[in-house]
Formats: sequence, C-alpha cells, structure tokens
Amino acid sequence: MKSFQEIQSSYLAKIDAGFSHAIGEQFQKNSAIREMLNYHYNTGGKRLRPLASIFVAKALAPQISDSEILPVAIAVEMIHNATLIHDDIQDGDEMRRSQPTLWKKYSLAQGINCGDILFFSALQLVQEAPLAADLKLSLLKLFQEKTRFVIEGQVSEFTLKEKLQEQISSLAEYESMAQGKTAALFSLPILAGALLAGADEKKIINLEAGAAALGLAFQIQDDLLDLWGEKGRMEKGSDIAEGKLSYPVVCA
Ligand code: IPE
Ligand code: IPE
Ligand code: MG
Ligand code: MG
Ligand code: MG
Repeated sequence: MKSFQEIQSSYLAKIDAGFSHAIGEQFQKNSAIREMLNYHYNTGGKRLRPLASIFVAKALAPQISDSEILPVAIAVEMIHNATLIHDDIQDGDEMRRSQPTLWKKYSLAQGINCGDILFFSALQLVQEAPLAADLKLSLLKLFQEKTRFVIEGQVSEFTLKEKLQEQISSLAEYESMAQGKTAALFSLPILAGALLAGADEKKIINLEAGAAALGLAFQIQDDLLDLWGEKGRMEKGSDIAEGKLSYPVVCA
C-alpha cells in the first residue's frame, strides 16, 4: 500500500493540472470567471481532500485508474474552494493563504458568484466522469449530502456566535458545528474514494467514523492556529475578533 506521502508526491501536480483543465473546459478563455477561479486556486492550498480521496481509493483498490479517481478528487477540491470563497465573505476575512481573498480582490458580488458556480462545476465534473451510471448516482448523492451538511455547519456557527452574547455553548455544540462545517468535507473525499474502490458497507461505516474524528481534530487545530500559529492572515486571533465560538473559547 502506498503511503500518504507517496500519493502526495505523485498526485499533487496531477490534481493542479486536472483542476486547470476542468476550468478550461467549463469556462471560456479570457472570461472573468476563469480568471477569478484560477486566481483563487493558485493562491495555494494543501489539496488534502483530493489526496485523501486518492489515498483511500488506491489503498482499497490498487489497480484503480487515474481517469476514474481524478475527476472525483478534483471535484472535492472544487467544493472545498467554493466553501472557502464563501467562508471568507461570511467571516469578513481579507487574507487567505497570505494573499487577498477573492471577494477582497474582485468584489463581494463576484465572490458570491465564484463560490456558487464552483459548487455546480464540481457536480458537472462528477456527472461527466468516465464511471458507471449507478456509481455516479451514488457519488452525486454523497456530494450533495455532504455539501449540504457543510452549509448547515456554517449556519450553526453563526447561530452559536449570536448565542455567545448571552451564554457560552457546550463542547457538544461546538463538536456538532465542526462535524458539519469541517468534518463533512473530510468524509466526502474519504467516502468517495471508498465508493470508487467498491468498498463494502462495513468499510464505509468505519471510514465514516475515522473521517468524523479527523475532521474534528482538523478544526480544533485550525482554531489553535488562528490564535497561536500561522493562518496566512495579517492579524492573529481573527476568530476572537469576529466573536466566534472557537475551540479555545469553548474550553476557556
Ligand atoms: C481550511 O482548510 C478550512 C478549514 C476547514 C479549517 P485547509 O487548511 O485544508 O485549506 P487549504 O486548501 O489547505 O488552504
Ligand atoms: C472552516 O471554517 C470551515 C469552512 C471553511 C467551511 P473557518 O472559518 O475556521 O476556516 P478558515 O479559518 O477561514 O480557513
Ligand atoms: Mg473563515
Ligand atoms: Mg468560517
Ligand atoms: Mg479558522
């Protein structure tokens, strides 16, 4: 079985080339949308979610081909970036990955448009992938369910932020929000990889539990980085400044 690092070194360039190709297929050359989406994508990013998809698919079905996995992996990265573009508007963040956020560079309206279109570009990419019709249907269902769950998590973040004016929320409420806004976008690629590999029900259930734990840990780490680490933003503590129920706050 290939290690995550091996998958990373052989697939990072393929993911970036595949994203650029998909955007090139879906949007006209020199169009504003193509320029803005490429701008955002090329600000950087670790590409953890598509790599997770490829890692899981290859671990469970080593013979699986790139043409089967890559469209799905790239579609996950599209969904992730759509949520980041909208998240920066919602959080009022002007910097991401040490560069101006899309809405700050272009405009609020264009930030909304770019996030919106990228959600649908992802679904189109899965729809057009060279996969069996019933597999595509299962994948599309997974994409829709998990993406809805991310948005529900984002909604609950703002509900909890309002509530923070009156009372501190519980760790359970924090966890439930993080399961939506962050863990759902780990369970999407991991389960998509498992579906591509034809994994059985038991493996899917176990991977779902692992993805939930990984996603929660990832958001806790992100909240710690916001205060004490490096998030590619000018100021430290933007979650506190925005009045968010971050992990340090709920613990304190
Ligand atoms: C940022 O995720 C959003 C959170 C869920 C905290 P990443 O840190 O994976 O974002 P990029 O794509 O690598 O910049
Ligand atoms: C991460 O939320 C979840 C989503 C982006 C959907 P954050 O608001 O904490 O992410 P960063 O810190 O802006 O990357
Ligand atoms: Mg944010
Ligand atoms: Mg946010
Ligand atoms: Mg954060």
